[in-house]
Amino acid sequence: MIMSRRRLLLVWAILFTVVVLACIYLPYQATNSKDRFVIPTQSKYNHHQDIPTRTSPTYEVHLKKPTTTQSTTPSKKTTTAGPTKLKLCEPELLVGAVYCNKTVPQMQEVVEQLSSDYDGLVKKGGAFTPTGCIAKNKLAIIIPYRNRSQHLRIFLRHMHPIMQRQMHDYRIFVVEQAGNYSFNRAQLINIGFLEALKISDYQCFVFHDVDHILENDQNDYGCPESPKLLGVSVDRFNRRFPYQKYFGGVGAFSKDQFEKMNGYSNLFWGWGGEDDDAYNRIRAAGYSLTRPRANIGRYMMLKEHHFRDKPGGNRYMLLKTSTKRMYTDGLNSVKYKVLKITEFPLFTHILAKLFEELDVMPNITSTSTITAPI
Ligand SMILES: *[C@@H]1O[C@H](CO)[C@@H](O)[C@H](O)[C@H]1NC(C)=O
Ligand SMILES: *[C@@H]1O[C@H](CO)[C@@H](O)[C@H](O)[C@H]1NC(C)=O
Ligand SMILES: *[C@@H]1O[C@H](CO)[C@@H](O)[C@H](O)[C@H]1NC(C)=O
Ligand SMILES: *[C@@H]1O[C@H](CO)[C@@H](O)[C@H](O)[C@H]1NC(C)=O
Repeated sequence: MIMSRRRLLLVWAILFTVVVLACIYLPYQATNSKDRFVIPTQSKYNHHQDIPTRTSPTYEVHLKKPTTTQSTTPSKKTTTAGPTKLKLCEPELLVGAVYCNKTVPQMQEVVEQLSSDYDGLVKKGGAFTPTGCIAKNKLAIIIPYRNRSQHLRIFLRHMHPIMQRQMHDYRIFVVEQAGNYSFNRAQLINIGFLEALKISDYQCFVFHDVDHILENDQNDYGCPESPKLLGVSVDRFNRRFPYQKYFGGVGAFSKDQFEKMNGYSNLFWGWGGEDDDAYNRIRAAGYSLTRPRANIGRYMMLKEHHFRDKPGGNRYMLLKTSTKRMYTDGLNSVKYKVLKITEFPLFTHILAKLFEELDVMPNITSTSTITAPI
């Protein structure tokens, strides 16, 4: 009796310890094995709807053991962050809506505010490179230009600080059409693109009318995923978006996007049309036009000292053949001569002579060229 009772006790004791050990050991092993398989099972079961209830304990177990995952990730981070030192630039000081001073300053006044000659941040030629981080891309801001020196001064005073806050590695190019022939905005854009690339390996391009003044510094001028209209809400158009295909004012491209559509057409002399033609090219090159939200893509258009060239007489006819001409008329066919490249303190000036005899429907306008220095 006693022996059997003792034996029974022993059996119970053994059973007890086995159960206790099992209780301790099995969950431990379970968490380990689940940890090992957590990623494949999760992804495998993601598609099934009946599984999540069963796998949810796995999440809990997994979440309970962050010590191992945490200890591995920071060490990874430190090893990757260690040798590279500098991080990619992120804008830090953006304020959103910005005030614009529309009083026309003297150029010298603006130079003294911004130029590195006077302890400012803008280097000769209108260039800036952020320090303490690596800029994501190199950006060329290209302004097709003629006889708008008041606008240019307001523009430079306004835009340089914003581009610096956006932390772009950028340079402002002013591409001026020499002579007094009809203005050809699109050719100046093509020329700006080609000439900028001779100066540096820019990956992002913004083509910017000088009379458009940005009102929200969150409107990013960096490389867009797809060609982007930056000027969406303009006071001159009563803040309404003019029409679906509108692509005037301010547009952003990556280098590849602009090359793929062969730039702009060279045939639009005089005011208008080239932007609608560009829209057609963007679509034909397989892109969709993107836009920021209206409260971000906000601009005011300078009205004073505003001169608008005569409308190009053949623009409607040309628009009918946008996509047919696209690969023979553009970056690969623009004819021009650079008369002068000057690095002014706040911008790089490219004075270009266009070949007016190439105008299929010539029409001389009454504007005369700018002869005085800008
Ligand atoms: C606006 O610009 C004018 C001309 O440069 C300057 O005298 C004035 O102080 C500026 N106003 C503000 C508020 O910055
Ligand atoms: C030339 O300009 C005049 C006056 O603006 C206009 O009536 C005419 O249609 C234009 N011609 C061409 C060929 O563009
Ligand atoms: C255009 O410029 C030429 C010389 O560059 C000058 O002779 C001519 O008068 C100008 N025409 C107009 C309409 O300003
Ligand atoms: C520049 O444009 C203004 C109009 O804003 C005009 O009065 C002036 O004659 C033009 N000057 C030159 C040099 O083209």
